[in-house]
Amino acid sequence: MSGTILEMSEITKSFPGVKALDNVNLNVEKGEIHALIGENGAGKSTLMKVLSGVHPYGSYSGDIILNGKKCDFKDINQSEALGIVIIHQELALIPELSIAENIFLGNEQASRGIVHWNETITKTKELLKKVGLNISPKVQIKDIGVGQQQLVEIAKALSKDVKLLILDEPTSALNEEDSQNLLNLLLDFKKQGITSILISHKLKELIKVSDRITILRDGKTIETLTLDEDEISEDRIIKGMVGRDLSNLFPVRNPNIGEVLFEVENWSAYHPVNSDRQILFDVKFNVRKGEIIGIAGLMGAGRTELAMSIFGKSYGKKITGKAYKNGVEIDIKNVGRAIENGIAYVSENRKEFGLILIESVKNNITLAGLHQVSNNSILNSNEEVKVAESIKSKINIKAPTIYQKALNLSGGNQQKVVLGKWIYTDPEILILDEPTRGIDVGAKFEIYKIINELADKGKSIIMISSELPELLGMCDRIYTMAEGKITGEVNKQDANQEILMKYMTEDWRA
Ligand SMILES: Nc1ncnc2c1ncn2[C@@H]1O[C@H](COP(=O)(O)OP(=O)(O)OP(=O)(O)O)[C@@H](O)[C@H]1O
Ligand SMILES: [Mg+2]
Repeated sequence: MSGTILEMSEITKSFPGVKALDNVNLNVEKGEIHALIGENGAGKSTLMKVLSGVHPYGSYSGDIILNGKKCDFKDINQSEALGIVIIHQELALIPELSIAENIFLGNEQASRGIVHWNETITKTKELLKKVGLNISPKVQIKDIGVGQQQLVEIAKALSKDVKLLILDEPTSALNEEDSQNLLNLLLDFKKQGITSILISHKLKELIKVSDRITILRDGKTIETLTLDEDEISEDRIIKGMVGRDLSNLFPVRNPNIGEVLFEVENWSAYHPVNSDRQILFDVKFNVRKGEIIGIAGLMGAGRTELAMSIFGKSYGKKITGKAYKNGVEIDIKNVGRAIENGIAYVSENRKEFGLILIESVKNNITLAGLHQVSNNSILNSNEEVKVAESIKSKINIKAPTIYQKALNLSGGNQQKVVLGKWIYTDPEILILDEPTRGIDVGAKFEIYKIINELADKGKSIIMISSELPELLGMCDRIYTMAEGKITGEVNKQDANQEILMKYMTEDWRA
């Protein structure tokens, strides 16, 4: 390493009712990959927003020293001018625009008001090559997956001559392979002298690529661990994060599994835009009372498409097939009918589907189950408050009050609100699509406990997750999907990562 690039000292930042950062110190060496880790709400994103000028000078106290010089950034442009580029937790690309337009948005390749389209395309191609993306710059963002969108964000960062790259949970939405590619890219950047600050809840990958790890807890710096000097293990990091040992990652459960509650068969669907393209092929699966089933699959396998098409046909065209509850065929032709039939769906994409950001925690929680707090359509606001308070404390949503707007919560706590909202509808069949994405280890344990409690009450749980250890730890039975088809079904006692991977990949044909 060749000296310090960044020193943040005694950073304190408050929001109404919350001290998000309390005298935080962070020291980053030139050319290193520095991980920032801590529970949901610990202050990681806030610290990075202070660094990049999103929270401007004057709104916090403490000093930012970059390459030996004190910086008082008033906005993000000022930090970018010095080579600091931040990729936020929630991606900020515009879905309707092309990759090229997104990359050069606000930085158009133009003279005298005329955008040089050819130049834009050529430059975009070069940038995409650097991040290993082999698609046309003209493709719209909405037509590519999250993993590829993440790479476009990084290509965008590279278009700005980045010296210090900040990635706020870049791999939380990515599968194993895409995550690995992205981390390799960071290691490549390191060789070119680019410094990175990486925030992630995936401890294994952090340990693999980081040179140093700084742990935050409740807005305070706990410690900085250095590779090769300190003993760096998951246990050690978890202890620093949560302040205690966490020996079991999954709560114990003695399942009590009953009759089949929900079943679909011959379930097929076509792409919503390109209606010649079949997405789901004759899917058949069932889930019993008190059972937690998992659906494993690689990105593009059709898991979310299956879940959403079942949840009131909210995905896909020309959907055919039958759904049964307690052996009787049910109608789930729209979301209202699905909810009436006791089905709830916790979306993987909280921003687009699960959460109304400008509304309060309370309103978000009680929204889907409004009929429960209303009597003859008159809203019982006392009841609403009681319910929201109890769910907030039950799943430990970190917010000063239930009146806090969802948009002011940390990413992981937003996810808990989405979960809380559907738990509140008291569903019989709960579909959870990546329920712990972006959630810290301690809170994951709490969420697993809630899922187990629901199962123990006789509910049927369908869990989609890209993290195989999570499925193996939680599910009684796991189905695998590939290319829109169910390719395997494995009971808990027979399941392991190798078998699931085999069925999730091409091997299932053999
Ligand atoms: N704009 C805001 N207004 C009010 N409170 C905020 C705002 N931004 C963050 N907070 C609060 O500051 C604290 C730290 O939040 P922050 O987003 O930095 O957490 P985090 O460590 O990034 O968590 P996560 O892992 O969930 O993303 C939280 O209590 C959060 O609710
Ligand atoms: Mg965050």
